Amino acid sequence: MSSIRVWQGDITRLAVDAIVNAANTSLLGGGGVDGAIHRAAGAELLAHCRLLGGCRTGEAKITPAFRLPARYIIHTAGPVWRGGEHGEAELLAACYRNSLALAEQHGLQSIAFPAISCGIYRFPHELAARIAISELRRAQAADGSLRELILVPFGEDMARLYQRLLAEA
Ligand code: APR
Repeated sequence: MSSIRVWQGDITRLAVDAIVNAANTSLLGGGGVDGAIHRAAGAELLAHCRLLGGCRTGEAKITPAFRLPARYIIHTAGPVWRGGEHGEAELLAACYRNSLALAEQHGLQSIAFPAISCGIYRFPHELAARIAISELRRAQAADGSLRELILVPFGEDMARLYQRLLAEA
């Protein structure tokens, strides 16, 4: 049975099988965690991503991690929050579900997620955290290759939110 845990800090430092990137649909880099991952992985990542043809919102694509301590990066494009009436919750759930499915297809044992869409894309943090935890628990129940599911809040508030929601029944 896989475990779910919270690790607060810079996701580029984690030596796990895959870190997930909160990318945009171009996959050509950006700010936030996307920028941090591209800076740390090096220029080969962008050269590789240029060949991928982008990524639809909610979808996920996998690349090597190049100079990162992780083995792979799973890039997913989260939804921009537009008030909640445009399928944002379902699209965010799809980001987690498709990233987890891709990790399982590659037989990975550990995966770490940033708070997808909770920065520049302005998704409400508690709703996003509940969606993340729900999808990780679904993966736990599926009992595939994944053994370690890590939520990586960057700030203290997000870390406390994850811990509070994980402690709920
Ligand atoms: N490690 C872990 N989490 C991080 C890091 C990091 N090094 N840097 C930022 N974060 C956190 C932010 O604090 C936020 O909680 O990642 C979460 C997601 O925020 P963003 O990176 O802004 O991503 P998102 O809201 O999904 O917006 C995506 O921003 O960077 C661009 O190209 C990206 O256009 C896309 C958009």
